[in-house]
Amino acid sequence: MIDQPLSWFRPEINNMQGYQPGEWPDLNANILKLNSNENPYPPSPQVLAALSEVSAELLRRYPDPKATDFCQVVGKTFGIPADWVIAGNGSDDLLTMLVRACAGSATTRSTAEKERMLAYPMPTYILYRTLAAIQPAKTVEIAYEMQGDNWSLPVEQLIAAQAALTLVATPNSPTGHCVPMADLRSLAAGLNGVLVIDEAYIDFAGEEAEQASLALVKAFENVIVLRTLSKGYGLAGLRLGFGIAQPPLLAGLQKVKDSYNVDAIALRLGAAAIADQPYKRAITQKVMAARQQLATDLQGLNFRVWPSFANFLLVQPPDGKAKLLCEKLKENQIMIRYFNQPGLDDKLRITVGTPAQNERMLLAIQAWL
Ligand SMILES: Cc1ncc(COP(=O)(O)O)c(C=O)c1O
Repeated sequence: MIDQPLSWFRPEINNMQGYQPGEWPDLNANILKLNSNENPYPPSPQVLAALSEVSAELLRRYPDPKATDFCQVVGKTFGIPADWVIAGNGSDDLLTMLVRACAGSATTRSTAEKERMLAYPMPTYILYRTLAAIQPAKTVEIAYEMQGDNWSLPVEQLIAAQAALTLVATPNSPTGHCVPMADLRSLAAGLNGVLVIDEAYIDFAGEEAEQASLALVKAFENVIVLRTLSKGYGLAGLRLGFGIAQPPLLAGLQKVKDSYNVDAIALRLGAAAIADQPYKRAITQKVMAARQQLATDLQGLNFRVWPSFANFLLVQPPDGKAKLLCEKLKENQIMIRYFNQPGLDDKLRITVGTPAQNERMLLAIQAWL
C-alpha cells in the first residue's frame, strides 16, 4: 500500500488563511494609496541625512543584536531606562515574538497548566488571529460593545478569559477609537498573563496619550507597550518598531527573537527619526487637522464617520454599499480598505492623506454618488 504523501505544511498552515496586507501598487503608478495607513508626509530630513552617511563598513558587519544605540535614544526620548526597550522589524515582529514566547501548547506543559491562549476585542488588527493560527494557539475573541459612536472594551470578559496574552490596540484599527486608560489599568491589574498595548497609531492621539501608557509599564510588570515608526514617523518602508516593558518580560522575548532581527540601516535611521520629535509632531499635527476636515467633508456627503484618534477614518457610505464604492474608487486609481468581515462589510477604512489627496478622493466619491 502506498502511504499518503506527506503534506509540505503543518495542518494548521494548510487550514489557515494568510494575512492579507493592503494591495501594493507600483511606486510610479499614479495611484492614491489610502489603504494601509501610511503617513502622507516623508520622514524627517535627519533620517535622510543619516541615510547618506551609511558606510560600507556598517553594511559589512552584522547589526547590533541588542540595538543598543537605538534603545538608548528611545529611552532618553520617552524618559525610561534603555534596558526597558526592545527593537523589532516593525511592531509585527514584536507581536510575533510575543505570540512565540507566551502562547500555544507546549510539549512540556503540565496538565494542570491551562491552554495558553490569546484574547482580544473585535474588531481589531487581524494579524493577532493570523499569528495565533501559525503558532498554533487558541483565541478568545470578544466583541466590542458599540454604544452610539463609542466602542466599549469588554474588560470583565477579557479578565475572565485569563489568556496568556491579551492584546488591545489603542487607537484601535479599524475603528480609530482610543481605549480609556482606566480600562487598561483594570486589565493590567486583573490579568495574570501579559497585556499587550499596541500603540501603532498613538502619535496621532496627542502628546498626553503618548505618555499615559508608559505609567502603566512602570506600575505593572505584565504590561508591554508596542510602538512603530511606520505611521507617525513616515517610515513604513523601513520596518522598525519597539516595545517598552520591564526587563523580566523583555528577557523572554530576547530568547525567541531572530538574532539580528533589525538591520543596521533601520537602527541608524530609526534613531535619527526618534531624536527628531519636533518634526514628528509637525507632520502628525498636519494629519490630525486633515483628519478633522475629511471627517467633516464626508459627513457633508451623508457618510457616517466614527470619531478617530488615528491616521484613518472608519466610515459608512450612505447606502452601505462599501465594497462597490471601494471598487469604484479603484477604477479612479484610488485605493481604500474594505474588510470582508461580519460587522465591517458595510464600512470602509480610509487613510488620511494630505489635504490635496483627500480632496481628490472626495471629488471621486462625489462623482460616484
Ligand atoms: C494595530 C496595528 N498594530 C501593528 C501594526 C504593524 O505595524 P508595523 O508596520 O510596525 O509592523 C499595524 C499596521 O498596520 C496596526 O494597524
